[in-house]
This record gives sequence, structure tokens and C-alpha cells, in this order.
Amino acid sequence: MLGRDFWVNDAILPDPDAVSRRCFAHEEWEFGAPRKPMPWPGMRSPGALLPDELAAVEAWVKKVTGAKRLWQVTAPEGHQLNHNYVQLVGGAESGPRPHTDSRKLCRYAAVIYLSPDPLASAGTSFYRLRYPDGTLGGNICSPPHANLREALGVTGLPQEAWHEEVMVENRYNRMLLYRANLVHSASGYFGTGHDDKRMTAVFFWMADA
Ligand SMILES: [Fe+2]
Repeated sequence: MLGRDFWVNDAILPDPDAVSRRCFAHEEWEFGAPRKPMPWPGMRSPGALLPDELAAVEAWVKKVTGAKRLWQVTAPEGHQLNHNYVQLVGGAESGPRPHTDSRKLCRYAAVIYLSPDPLASAGTSFYRLRYPDGTLGGNICSPPHANLREALGVTGLPQEAWHEEVMVENRYNRMLLYRANLVHSASGYFGTGHDDKRMTAVFFWMADA
């Protein structure tokens, strides 16, 4: 539900053109699927926002969630989420993959859409479990499990088990913040060339509220 489980700010950055141009121009990228056998798609690069831009974003996150403190953690196994990364993913590189983010590593996740001319339907979706008889079930991963794959003891979640309940459209300079244990996914991707793919900045925070 908007304002309780997720929050939207349609003008999060004061100068989105500068951020978008700078992020498209990153020169060092790590490659994911389908080029490399990684669980994440497209390509990514650290350092999406500069410290002052990130501080302004975090001030808004604190305001709407009531958190007094936000931070990042590293799991004992060394796992860390890609906080403040740019992600660039083309239309043919992946599709929706409903999942929850690790409860051990974050309480909130967020995305800023940075493609100036996006496909509106390639935003972010939230899902509920759909049973074979069509009835709908839950949409969160609860303690003690870190994520749904761990809770269910599987390596991948079946696409047909999910009903898309809410889709937040992709709009330039929109930030979507959500509780990371909600089942979610990119709704879709778009673009074929470097400068017209779905570009986002992604964030993960632990929080005291
Ligand atoms: Fe996620």
C-alpha cells in the first residue's frame, strides 16, 4: 500500500539531467546476464549519486519512513548489496523476476529511474502468491528467513506462482522506495543501444524503523 509499504517521489533529484548524463557516461561496468552467468541482468557500475545527492535522497527516505538512521551491512559470508549503483538493462536482456531482497542485508530498497524517455510499463511491480486454484496469498518474506528462496529451499521461484498486484510506472526522475521483503521485480526492460536502455540507480538500506 502506498505510504506504508512503498513511497514515490516524482521529482527526487534537483538536476536529473546532470545525473543521467553522468551515469550513462560511466566507463567501468560489470557485466551480468546474459553476457555473464550472474543472477542480475545487464550491466552495472558503482557510484551513481555523489555524496551530496545521496544525502538529500536519504533525508527524504528518513522523512517518509520515520527512520532516524540508515546504513549498509556486509553479511558474514561477505555478501553486500549494490547500494548506489547504476544499472543499465536492455529490453532483450531480462524480464520480470519476482523476488525479495535479503532481510539480513536491508530493510528498504529503492530505485531512481534515470532514462529520460522511458517505457512507462517498465517500472517496478509488486506481486502476491497465486495458488494453482487462482486464490491469492501473501506478499512478504517473514523472519527467520532471509529471502524467499531460502524460505522455500529453492534456487529459483516459478514465474507462474505470482500475481502482479501493483505496477509503479517508470518515469524519469521518479524514486520508488519500498520495504525490501515485499515480493517485487522490475516490470520489464527496454532499449537496445547504450543510451536508450532502462537505466536506474539502486539503493539498499538497513534502518532503525
Ligand atoms: Fe530486489
